[in-house]
Amino acid sequence: MRAWSERVRQDGARIAFVPTMGYFHEGHLALMRKAKELADKLVVSIFVNPIQFGPQEDFAAYPRDLNRDARLAEEIGVDVLFVPEAQKMYPSGFQTYVEVSELSKPLCGARRPGHFRGVATVCLKLFNIVKPHLAVFGLKDYQQFLVIRRLVEDLNLGIEIVGHPIVREEDGLAMSSRNTYLSPEERKSATCLYKALCLAQEKVKEGAREAPPLKKEIEAFILSYPYTRIDYVEFCHPETLEPVKEISSPTLLALAVFVGRARLIDNALIKPL
Ligand code: PAJ
Repeated sequence: MRAWSERVRQDGARIAFVPTMGYFHEGHLALMRKAKELADKLVVSIFVNPIQFGPQEDFAAYPRDLNRDARLAEEIGVDVLFVPEAQKMYPSGFQTYVEVSELSKPLCGARRPGHFRGVATVCLKLFNIVKPHLAVFGLKDYQQFLVIRRLVEDLNLGIEIVGHPIVREEDGLAMSSRNTYLSPEERKSATCLYKALCLAQEKVKEGAREAPPLKKEIEAFILSYPYTRIDYVEFCHPETLEPVKEISSPTLLALAVFVGRARLIDNALIKPL
């Protein structure tokens, strides 16, 4: 991988990179198409990164289908599909981690201790191996996007980080490899995340400005759907992720909801008009 990148760079070509954990859906493919437009060569990685999963989380169950992914990548015109082995990424003796301290604290960081340390560390390793000029990340994982942007800035990596809008199913559900965990009944309930985001935008358009009562209303709305359990519903500053009480400027509404055993996340920038 490193030899290929060095050669391509010497030829003066620009490398775009899309890191993934595989089991591709339209969201992943949209990132790849975007990345391809922005550079001469496209590298996509597939690596289900063990160090970003908690001990009680779904690392073992995470869906995998390398043959299907390879076919889809080829159709898109991916130049290199980089699929490292866990043993090569984390050989015995591995002990170096990076932490983006403040942005990793709230939201998913509070519920998944060590998650963003694992994400930041694997992305730094992948960046060092792939040596891209730019990398595309989905805004579905909004906090991850901010963490990686900060990492690149703070450690002078000189990689352009491009955010891609959330890609959704027809009924609004954000695409996710974890949607495969949903039973048909749970799949119906899972639309409540997107509907809750729309409801919040509607209420704010109608003049609602106080975040705490709106948060309560959104929680009740989500819980009115069967099989749901709220992990968090938070209004926060779209750059710092600090909690917001008064929605007077564009505010991020971030949701994490268990539907059955699937933990789903979604978010939207809520704009007072
Ligand atoms: P993964 O969940 O496979 O996602 C890979 C990339 O696809 C991420 O940038 C994610 O934000 C984006 N993505 C997923 N679903 C999307 C959707 N519906 N719309 C737009 N973009 C979407 O995120 C990871 O893997 C890992 O944490 C990783 C960055 C690879 C580090 O291990």
